[in-house]
Amino acid sequence: MLSAVPRPVTVRVPAKINLHLAVGGVREDGYHDLVTVFHAVSLFDEVSVEHAEAPTLEVHGDSVAEVPIDATNLAWRAVEMLAARAGREPDVRVVLRKGIPVAGGMAGGSADAAGALVALSNLWRMELSREELSVMAAELGSDVTFALHGGTALGTGRGEQVIPVLARHRLHWVIALARGGLSTPAVFGELDRLRGDTEPVERPVEPVLEALAGGDPRQLALNLGNDLQAAAVSMAPDLRRTLRAGVNAGALAGLVSGSGPTCAFLCADADATVEVAAELAGAGVCRTVRVAQGPVGGARVVDDSEPP
Ligand code: C5P
Repeated sequence: MLSAVPRPVTVRVPAKINLHLAVGGVREDGYHDLVTVFHAVSLFDEVSVEHAEAPTLEVHGDSVAEVPIDATNLAWRAVEMLAARAGREPDVRVVLRKGIPVAGGMAGGSADAAGALVALSNLWRMELSREELSVMAAELGSDVTFALHGGTALGTGRGEQVIPVLARHRLHWVIALARGGLSTPAVFGELDRLRGDTEPVERPVEPVLEALAGGDPRQLALNLGNDLQAAAVSMAPDLRRTLRAGVNAGALAGLVSGSGPTCAFLCADADATVEVAAELAGAGVCRTVRVAQGPVGGARVVDDSEPP
């Protein structure tokens, strides 16, 4: 007999790093204008949803003590937004399995919100278009739209306007996870403090786009840059050692990912990542090390046959 209760839906959603992050002035709404190049890498969270008698949110994985399991969780806000749109109660159990570092500057919370949008709209068969999901994503947070789309993309506005970028080759990364986290608003605030009254120095995006189109990681390494890095290093000075250690270990370049404190190291190829990862892990300059590739796709249903 067919069951009336829909089967659970699981969505896999990637972490991001910013290959380029130029931060402009503060806007009237308190956000900063950005020009950024997002790049989705193969560290993933999984978001599972299934029908439940009462609304429930569970989080599993590393450092989950720091993830809120109340209405402030961005994934739960996505659930409430969809429930309001569908005109029904949020009678679902949501399970987040974290593979993306928490408060690490890799948009893990945004990834969970994007995953929840895709998973729940699928569970409830809401037939929303990619555009409709993107509008909801932008309302939830600046990085949620990119987590839906994945790949490599140019982000403008406060980061929520994304268009795909031609990126010819697979990039190989070593990701150094830090011991603590950094608050994104605090890092933006620190950048404002460091800048004082001086105008932001222009950081052109074109060389990054050209290097991506050309596909030479060495060319890209010369042009990686993040305006938030100085602020993140100012708040967590140990990051200087981490960045130096990665380059000393053989990476082409290293940079703080988004608002940090995670650091991402671009390597020449897959073999180099193994060596850099081993050396970084032994150097005692971070909590743990992961190897990742990019670009990877955005939020996708992976399996709706297993219970969450
Ligand atoms: O949009 P989201 O909620 O992810 O942003 C988190 C915080 O990061 C914002 O409240 C703001 O303090 C800061 N932010 C910013 N400018 C942006 C994006 C984020 O100042 N473009």
